[in-house]
Amino acid sequence: MRIEPKDASLGATIYGIDLSMPLSADNYKAIEQALGRYGVISFPEQELTAGQLRDFSENFGKLEVNVANLFHDEQYPEVMILSNMKENGKPIGLSDAGQDWHTDMSYSKTIAFSNVLYGIRIPFRDGKSLGNTAFCNMHAAYDGLTEELKEELDGMTITHDFNKFWDMMRREKGSTRPPLTEEQRKRKPPVSHPVFLTHPITGRKVLYANPGYSMRINELSEARSDEVLQFLFEHQVQEKYCYRHQWAQGDVLMWDNMGTIHNAVADYGPDEHRLIKRCQVMADKYFPEQY
Ligand code: SIN
Repeated sequence: MRIEPKDASLGATIYGIDLSMPLSADNYKAIEQALGRYGVISFPEQELTAGQLRDFSENFGKLEVNVANLFHDEQYPEVMILSNMKENGKPIGLSDAGQDWHTDMSYSKTIAFSNVLYGIRIPFRDGKSLGNTAFCNMHAAYDGLTEELKEELDGMTITHDFNKFWDMMRREKGSTRPPLTEEQRKRKPPVSHPVFLTHPITGRKVLYANPGYSMRINELSEARSDEVLQFLFEHQVQEKYCYRHQWAQGDVLMWDNMGTIHNAVADYGPDEHRLIKRCQVMADKYFPEQY
């Protein structure tokens, strides 16, 4: 296995491994360390069935079946389908997943470790791939805060709410996803997490806030919380912290949700087809007490 870092704040490509085969303990360790260090890694030219994608992902933690699991593989509910394609006039996948900055599952009591996405069909225009996935580095965003703000926010917590992103997609992006039901909202009530997490792989602090789900800094007045969150949301997406993955068919893209935030770039049309299969790996190996 060969790891080639990107010339950016985060990102690396890993060559020389077939993810359809069982993962050795050495390769597991190397991938885990690479996720902590580079935040986002891609494995080009993979050929995986849905079951093999699930088996590979499961090495890294418990797989979450999404509470609003609108589209998933027939055999494997843990394998979600993201797509703008239709069959017999009916959508085959969630067409607008993740189209703004967020951290998956920050709204959950047990937070997410990684997402594993497999690119089956990638839209291209004028020789360039569309539907890139953009990332920002939350180790670097923490390091870039002033000592004064680090001290002010040290030990504080943020409330995260699943409904914030869901509603924003319906309200601002014209999404046709239905409103969350009472039952879905009850299954994922708002939760609090520290503003700064100590990353379990790197041992360094990361900024654990994101515009998608973060609602309120609990220990501050509402006005100060709004002011600080607005600052953090702008601070964390500065170009110097970011990297965009340009997809190729057959890529497996895996990222660390604790050390990054991400945004699926919606720059392709309804006839420019994208099909991705996705598994959500929880951080239960690192935070078993949250179970
Ligand atoms: C996601 O937020 O998990 C989706 C990312 C993508 O479709 O590129």
